[in-house]
Amino acid sequence: MKRKPLLVLWLLVTVPAAAQDDERLTLSRDAAAQLGQELTATLLAALGTDGAVEAIRVCSIEASPIAARISEQAGAGVGRTALRLRNPDNAPDADARTVLTMFERDLAAGAPAPPQQFDTRADGSARFMSAIVTQPLCLTCHGSEIAPEVAAEIARHYPEDQATGFTAGDLRGAFLIEWPAPDE
Ligand code: HEC
Repeated sequence: MKRKPLLVLWLLVTVPAAAQDDERLTLSRDAAAQLGQELTATLLAALGTDGAVEAIRVCSIEASPIAARISEQAGAGVGRTALRLRNPDNAPDADARTVLTMFERDLAAGAPAPPQQFDTRADGSARFMSAIVTQPLCLTCHGSEIAPEVAAEIARHYPEDQATGFTAGDLRGAFLIEWPAPDE
Protein backbone atom coordinates (compact mmCIF):
# COMPACT_ATOMS: atom_id res chain seq x y z
CA MET A 1 0.00 0.00 0.00
CA LYS A 2 2.81 2.38 -0.80
CA ARG A 3 0.79 4.30 -3.35
CA LYS A 4 -2.00 5.70 -1.18
CA PRO A 5 -0.22 8.58 0.61
CA LEU A 6 1.09 9.77 -2.75
CA LEU A 7 -2.42 10.00 -4.21
CA VAL A 8 -3.72 11.94 -1.21
CA LEU A 9 -0.85 14.38 -1.62
CA TRP A 10 -1.60 14.69 -5.32
CA LEU A 11 -5.23 15.67 -4.68
CA LEU A 12 -4.20 18.35 -2.22
CA VAL A 13 -1.61 19.80 -4.52
CA THR A 14 -3.66 20.02 -7.70
CA VAL A 15 -6.81 21.60 -6.23
CA PRO A 16 -5.71 23.78 -3.28
CA ALA A 17 -8.34 24.44 -0.60
CA ALA A 18 -8.84 28.08 -1.69
CA ALA A 19 -9.55 26.99 -5.25
CA GLN A 20 -12.38 24.72 -4.05
CA ASP A 21 -14.33 27.93 -3.28
CA ASP A 22 -13.78 29.32 -6.78
CA GLU A 23 -17.05 28.87 -8.68
CA ARG A 24 -15.03 28.64 -11.89
CA LEU A 25 -13.85 25.19 -10.78
CA THR A 26 -17.42 23.83 -10.78
CA LEU A 27 -18.29 25.69 -13.99
CA SER A 28 -15.17 24.27 -15.63
CA ARG A 29 -16.09 20.73 -14.69
CA ASP A 30 -19.58 21.29 -16.12
CA ALA A 31 -18.23 22.75 -19.37
CA ALA A 32 -15.73 19.90 -19.79
CA ALA A 33 -18.49 17.34 -19.17
CA GLN A 34 -20.76 19.07 -21.68
CA LEU A 35 -18.07 19.13 -24.37
CA GLY A 36 -17.27 15.47 -23.71
CA GLN A 37 -20.92 14.45 -23.89
CA GLU A 38 -21.68 16.40 -27.05
CA LEU A 39 -18.59 15.13 -28.86
CA THR A 40 -19.30 11.54 -27.83
CA ALA A 41 -22.94 11.81 -28.92
CA THR A 42 -21.89 13.26 -32.30
CA LEU A 43 -19.23 10.57 -32.72
CA LEU A 44 -21.57 7.71 -31.80
CA ALA A 45 -24.34 8.96 -34.10
CA ALA A 46 -21.93 9.20 -37.05
CA LEU A 47 -20.31 5.82 -36.30
CA GLY A 48 -23.71 4.16 -35.97
CA THR A 49 -25.17 5.43 -39.21
CA ASP A 50 -22.21 5.72 -41.57
CA GLY A 51 -19.15 4.03 -40.05
CA ALA A 52 -15.69 5.24 -39.09
CA VAL A 53 -14.67 6.90 -42.37
CA GLU A 54 -17.71 9.17 -42.37
CA ALA A 55 -17.32 9.74 -38.59
CA ILE A 56 -13.85 11.21 -39.20
CA ARG A 57 -15.34 13.66 -41.67
CA VAL A 58 -18.11 14.56 -39.19
CA CYS A 59 -15.59 15.04 -36.32
CA SER A 60 -13.37 17.21 -38.50
CA ILE A 61 -16.33 19.48 -39.32
CA GLU A 62 -18.22 19.45 -36.01
CA ALA A 63 -15.61 19.34 -33.21
CA SER A 64 -14.55 22.96 -33.41
CA PRO A 65 -18.03 24.59 -33.77
CA ILE A 66 -19.30 22.48 -30.82
CA ALA A 67 -16.41 23.75 -28.67
CA ALA A 68 -17.00 27.32 -29.88
CA ARG A 69 -20.69 27.21 -28.93
CA ILE A 70 -19.96 25.80 -25.45
CA SER A 71 -17.22 28.45 -24.98
CA GLU A 72 -19.72 31.18 -25.76
CA GLN A 73 -22.28 29.76 -23.32
CA ALA A 74 -19.67 29.29 -20.56
CA GLY A 75 -17.87 32.63 -20.97
CA ALA A 76 -14.57 30.71 -21.08
CA GLY A 77 -12.43 29.10 -23.74
CA VAL A 78 -13.51 25.44 -23.84
CA GLY A 79 -11.51 22.96 -25.88
CA ARG A 80 -9.23 19.95 -26.00
CA THR A 81 -5.50 19.52 -26.15
CA ALA A 82 -2.99 16.64 -26.21
CA LEU A 83 0.69 15.80 -26.33
CA ARG A 84 0.25 13.79 -29.56
CA LEU A 85 -2.10 15.74 -31.78
CA ARG A 86 -4.45 15.04 -34.60
CA ASN A 87 -5.57 18.63 -35.19
CA PRO A 88 -2.60 21.04 -34.81
CA ASP A 89 -5.06 23.77 -33.71
CA ASN A 90 -5.31 21.87 -30.40
CA ALA A 91 -1.59 22.28 -29.58
CA PRO A 92 -0.82 22.84 -25.86
CA ASP A 93 1.24 25.79 -24.58
CA ALA A 94 4.19 25.11 -22.27
CA ASP A 95 2.05 25.08 -19.08
CA ALA A 96 -0.54 22.73 -20.59
CA ARG A 97 2.23 20.47 -21.79
CA THR A 98 3.58 20.26 -18.24
CA VAL A 99 0.14 19.35 -16.87
CA LEU A 100 -0.43 16.75 -19.61
CA THR A 101 2.92 15.15 -18.77
CA MET A 102 1.87 15.06 -15.11
CA PHE A 103 -1.50 13.51 -16.02
CA GLU A 104 0.26 10.86 -18.09
CA ARG A 105 2.49 10.00 -15.13
CA ASP A 106 -0.46 9.91 -12.69
CA LEU A 107 -2.49 7.59 -14.95
CA ALA A 108 0.49 5.31 -15.46
CA ALA A 109 0.89 5.21 -11.66
CA GLY A 110 -2.72 4.01 -11.35
CA ALA A 111 -4.66 7.19 -10.47
CA PRO A 112 -8.16 6.00 -9.48
CA ALA A 113 -9.95 8.73 -11.49
CA PRO A 114 -8.95 10.95 -14.44
CA PRO A 115 -6.67 13.61 -12.92
CA GLN A 116 -7.71 17.29 -12.90
CA GLN A 117 -5.84 20.52 -12.35
CA PHE A 118 -7.09 24.05 -11.55
CA ASP A 119 -4.74 27.04 -11.47
CA THR A 120 -5.40 30.72 -10.89
CA ARG A 121 -2.98 33.44 -11.95
CA ALA A 122 -2.09 36.78 -10.34
CA ASP A 123 -4.16 38.72 -12.93
CA GLY A 124 -7.30 36.78 -11.92
CA SER A 125 -7.38 34.49 -14.95
CA ALA A 126 -7.64 30.76 -14.39
CA ARG A 127 -7.23 27.48 -16.19
CA PHE A 128 -8.79 24.06 -15.64
CA MET A 129 -7.64 20.82 -17.22
CA SER A 130 -9.04 17.31 -16.89
CA ALA A 131 -7.58 14.15 -18.37
CA ILE A 132 -9.25 12.37 -21.29
CA VAL A 133 -8.55 8.65 -21.01
CA THR A 134 -8.48 6.40 -24.10
CA GLN A 135 -11.45 3.99 -24.20
CA PRO A 136 -11.74 0.84 -26.34
CA LEU A 137 -14.14 2.75 -28.64
CA CYS A 138 -11.43 5.31 -29.43
CA LEU A 139 -9.01 2.73 -30.84
CA THR A 140 -10.79 2.58 -34.22
CA CYS A 141 -9.25 6.00 -34.95
CA HIS A 142 -6.52 6.40 -32.29
CA GLY A 143 -5.25 2.83 -31.78
CA SER A 144 -2.41 0.79 -33.27
CA GLU A 145 -4.34 -1.28 -35.80
CA ILE A 146 -6.31 1.18 -37.86
CA ALA A 147 -8.19 -0.11 -40.90
CA PRO A 148 -6.56 1.07 -44.15
CA GLU A 149 -9.60 3.06 -45.32
CA VAL A 150 -9.81 4.78 -41.91
CA ALA A 151 -6.07 5.56 -41.94
CA ALA A 152 -6.43 7.00 -45.45
CA GLU A 153 -9.29 9.28 -44.39
CA ILE A 154 -7.32 10.47 -41.33
CA ALA A 155 -4.30 11.23 -43.54
CA ARG A 156 -6.50 13.14 -45.98
CA HIS A 157 -7.82 15.52 -43.28
CA TYR A 158 -4.77 15.50 -40.97
CA PRO A 159 -1.56 14.94 -42.94
CA GLU A 160 0.56 15.48 -39.81
CA ASP A 161 -1.49 13.23 -37.51
CA GLN A 162 0.36 11.97 -34.43
CA ALA A 163 -2.69 10.69 -32.55
CA THR A 164 -2.48 6.95 -33.20
CA GLY A 165 -0.81 4.08 -31.34
CA PHE A 166 -2.82 4.55 -28.12
CA THR A 167 -3.99 1.72 -25.87
CA ALA A 168 -7.13 1.76 -23.71
CA GLY A 169 -6.27 3.41 -20.39
CA ASP A 170 -3.61 5.72 -21.90
CA LEU A 171 -3.90 9.46 -21.56
CA ARG A 172 -5.34 10.60 -24.89
CA GLY A 173 -5.46 14.30 -24.03
CA ALA A 174 -7.29 16.77 -21.81
CA PHE A 175 -10.19 19.16 -21.74
CA LEU A 176 -8.85 22.66 -21.29
CA ILE A 177 -11.02 25.48 -19.91
CA GLU A 178 -9.45 28.93 -20.02
CA TRP A 179 -10.97 31.77 -17.93
CA PRO A 180 -9.92 35.28 -18.94
CA ALA A 181 -8.95 37.83 -16.29
CA PRO A 182 -12.08 39.61 -14.97
CA ASP A 183 -12.79 43.05 -16.50
CA GLU A 184 -11.46 46.00 -14.50
C1 HEC B 1 -14.21 8.09 -36.05
C2 HEC B 1 -12.85 8.31 -35.63
C3 HEC B 1 -12.60 8.77 -34.21
C4 HEC B 1 -12.92 8.10 -33.06
C5 HEC B 1 -13.64 6.77 -32.92
C6 HEC B 1 -12.40 8.91 -31.98
N1 HEC B 1 -11.78 10.03 -32.46
FE1 HEC B 1 -10.76 11.43 -31.39
N2 HEC B 1 -10.44 12.50 -33.04
C7 HEC B 1 -10.88 12.16 -34.30
C8 HEC B 1 -10.68 13.28 -35.20
C9 HEC B 1 -11.05 13.33 -36.67
C10 HEC B 1 -10.13 14.32 -34.42
C11 HEC B 1 -9.75 15.73 -34.86
C12 HEC B 1 -10.94 16.64 -34.57
C13 HEC B 1 -10.65 18.09 -34.87
O1 HEC B 1 -10.36 18.40 -36.05
O2 HEC B 1 -10.72 18.91 -33.95
C14 HEC B 1 -9.99 13.78 -33.07
C15 HEC B 1 -9.46 14.52 -32.04
C16 HEC B 1 -9.42 14.09 -30.74
C17 HEC B 1 -8.89 14.87 -29.62
C18 HEC B 1 -8.34 16.31 -29.67
C19 HEC B 1 -6.85 16.39 -29.65
C20 HEC B 1 -6.22 16.21 -30.99
O3 HEC B 1 -5.45 15.25 -31.12
O4 HEC B 1 -6.47 17.01 -31.91
C21 HEC B 1 -9.04 14.11 -28.51
C22 HEC B 1 -8.63 14.48 -27.09
C23 HEC B 1 -9.69 12.88 -28.93
N3 HEC B 1 -9.89 12.89 -30.28
C24 HEC B 1 -10.06 11.87 -28.06
C25 HEC B 1 -10.84 10.78 -28.43
C26 HEC B 1 -11.39 9.83 -27.49
C27 HEC B 1 -11.17 9.87 -25.99
C28 HEC B 1 -12.10 8.93 -28.21
C29 HEC B 1 -12.91 7.75 -27.70
C30 HEC B 1 -13.97 8.08 -26.75
C31 HEC B 1 -11.99 9.29 -29.61
N4 HEC B 1 -11.22 10.43 -29.70
C32 HEC B 1 -12.54 8.59 -30.65
C33 HEC B 1 -11.41 10.95 -34.69
C34 HEC B 1 -11.89 9.99 -33.82
